[in-house]
Amino acid sequence: MDKITSLAKRRGFIFQSSEIYGGFGSCYDFGPLGVELKNNIKKSWWEEMTRFHDNIVGLDASILMSPKVWEASGHLTAGFADELVECKKCHHRFRKDLLEKDKCPDCGGVFTEAKKFNLMMKTFAGSVEDKATTTYLRAETCQGIYVNFLNVMQSMRLKIPFGISQIGKAFRNEITPKDFIFRTREFEQMEMQWFCSPKEADKFFEYWLKERISWYLKLGIKKENLRTEETPKEKLAHYAKRAVDIEYKFPFGWKEIEGVHNRSDWDLSNHSKHSGQDLVYFDKETKEKYFPYIIETSTGVGRSLFAFLCDAYQEVKGGRTQTTEATKDAEVLLSLHKDLTPVKVAVLPLVKNKPKLVEKARKIFQMLKPDFTCQYDETDSIGRRYRRQDEQGTFLAITVDFETLEKDDVTVRERDTMKQKRIKIKDLELYLKEKLQ
Ligand code: GAP
Repeated sequence: MDKITSLAKRRGFIFQSSEIYGGFGSCYDFGPLGVELKNNIKKSWWEEMTRFHDNIVGLDASILMSPKVWEASGHLTAGFADELVECKKCHHRFRKDLLEKDKCPDCGGVFTEAKKFNLMMKTFAGSVEDKATTTYLRAETCQGIYVNFLNVMQSMRLKIPFGISQIGKAFRNEITPKDFIFRTREFEQMEMQWFCSPKEADKFFEYWLKERISWYLKLGIKKENLRTEETPKEKLAHYAKRAVDIEYKFPFGWKEIEGVHNRSDWDLSNHSKHSGQDLVYFDKETKEKYFPYIIETSTGVGRSLFAFLCDAYQEVKGGRTQTTEATKDAEVLLSLHKDLTPVKVAVLPLVKNKPKLVEKARKIFQMLKPDFTCQYDETDSIGRRYRRQDEQGTFLAITVDFETLEKDDVTVRERDTMKQKRIKIKDLELYLKEKLQ
């Protein structure tokens, strides 16, 4: 795991928040490559969960909502609270359900009785800080979808079954955040809420679970590193009728990366009751009236990014190139899927002290930039630059050499096979497009 966190920092994927001030608990910043990777994950998810379907639409609801939403959803009551114990000696707090022993892991002290601790982050909307202006940063994005159920259905003339997708920030005052970006206090969720008739809920649950697993596999996650775990009835969240976690085998063990939930009619019936708005659906064909059931798919952008990083990370002992006998240090290869990888194409002049080569390489870089996420790199030897690009997952590397000046062609090197091919500059864009398709 240390190797992944160190690569994440070294190559500009992920930094500790407020690092120069000693860091800020369980918050992380996504660096230049991290933000590209994140955007690529979100793009792929959005296409998969919105654009590729006739009956799923998008939404971008605000983070701050009426506090009544959180009363109706059950988040302000015991439903969204962890049981915490406090060490009597060092006063560190721990989630009771995650403790392996009944002694404080930090100092060996004994614990207080467990108390419920709500995870919602409080804030104030208005000039006075009092009860009337108290509201919360949303703890899950889906509530913005439920309160817009009527708006979206009516404005888009939708009929059940249909889905609403959203990507956005969520906040939880997690008490035991750990394992790098696995559990953070600020995170992004990608959630799709599928509204359907109660009779069809079980069928759609199976359908969406399968779809979500295939998304991870399609993006390169190894089959042996994914599994599903059914949540036992007694451990189901207050809203859930059924829940299956999609788990990834992280270096610190099998952990949830996504939840697929049958939320029954909990959400719409409760929002109907608390808001006084009629959220019952009338099916004109069957003449039935019901609160739609909701099948939810919910994953964290950061958590899935972490799984993609872990899965793509490889260390090649003795180096990747076998053309030399000399023993080399282990080299890192980040074999991210081409759709996800932050930099698609690197442009590398063979040497940096030949102005004609550099000029040509810069020209190619400018030509490709509008269509591909490119990086220009001229520092260090060509071998070191290939290694740097492999380490950050760059899919293709173009080398501009002396032959380029004579023949107007370049070599294109593929990251995974290290195979190189000469391509005429006039054919380069088409060639790259085909490779990256
Ligand atoms: N709307 C349902 C819901 O929020 P959840 O199981 O609490 O369900 C769903 O969260 C997903 O959101 C998780 O599988 C995880 O990927 C992500 N997630 C939840 N809490 C997180 C945290 N503190 N840090 C990072 N990701 C988190």
